[in-house]
Amino acid sequence: MAYNSIIFTIDGPVATLSFNRPEKLNAVTPEMISEIALAVDEVRTNKNIRVLLLTGQGRAFMAGADVKRFLELDPLGARGFASRGQDFVLKLGELPIPVIACVHGYALGGGCEIAMACDFIYAAAGAKFGQPEINLGFNPCLGGTQRLARLVGKSLAKELCLTGRFLEAEEAKTLGLVAQVFPEDTFLEDCRNAALALAAKSRVALEAVKRVIDWGVDVDLKTGCALEAEAFALCFTTPDVKEGVNAFLEKRKPHFQP
Ligand code: COA
Repeated sequence: MAYNSIIFTIDGPVATLSFNRPEKLNAVTPEMISEIALAVDEVRTNKNIRVLLLTGQGRAFMAGADVKRFLELDPLGARGFASRGQDFVLKLGELPIPVIACVHGYALGGGCEIAMACDFIYAAAGAKFGQPEINLGFNPCLGGTQRLARLVGKSLAKELCLTGRFLEAEEAKTLGLVAQVFPEDTFLEDCRNAALALAAKSRVALEAVKRVIDWGVDVDLKTGCALEAEAFALCFTTPDVKEGVNAFLEKRKPHFQP
């Protein structure tokens, strides 16, 4: 499939979806959202892909929605933009494989929202995160208010969305928004190595962990633990458990199901 505003590549078990409007710091347009959604469908149906990386071309991950397009929006158009955007961001997070946002430069507005919808965020030193929509007269609309509050807590989410201030990578890590910060010059290589390490693990166990944490945070503890027990049982339907445990006992690397 040919794309214009993204670059989609598959290298072994790792797929990379890179936003590709570098001259506009990858500001996202409705066309780009449609292309990302198509690529996400491609990932969902290709069983050889075990990890998805999101990156940006040029000097940013993504500096938000292309605000120029907002000048054309009326209230109904704005609601349509938000709900279509939210649907695709939800679908991205619901992929059965690990999805990592690899953020360098800026992840602002929609860029920060898309990154937060991934399973976790790796940041290059110096990367900046923020929800600056308030400075333009509107609120975040791709789930940013909701995911930020869940990730860093209500008070800080309000402070960030109300002031529009940027967080530096290290501060974002301290607050739990970013999982790890890597040096800028080795950033993509570090992300790819982390993706390859994930790709070598059991596919079923990876999905179990991801689903149980995602579903569990929205339910009470007892229900969350029940979901965890069901996921644990599911892992035992595959030969991966025997392989993982035997490999440990035999002091060798495990070879999980393809
Ligand atoms: N929408 C549309 N265009 C954008 C954009 C956005 N969200 N973010 C950046 N661009 C464009 C700029 O207009 C500029 O285009 P031009 O060269 O045709 O003038 C180009 O990308 C480069 O951006 P510029 O502002 O010149 O780079 P900078 O290094 O001086 O500043 C930022 C970088 C990220 C601080 C600044 O671009 C910015 O604040 N962007 C908007 C962030 C935002 O409010 N996002 C939320 C939107 S909902």
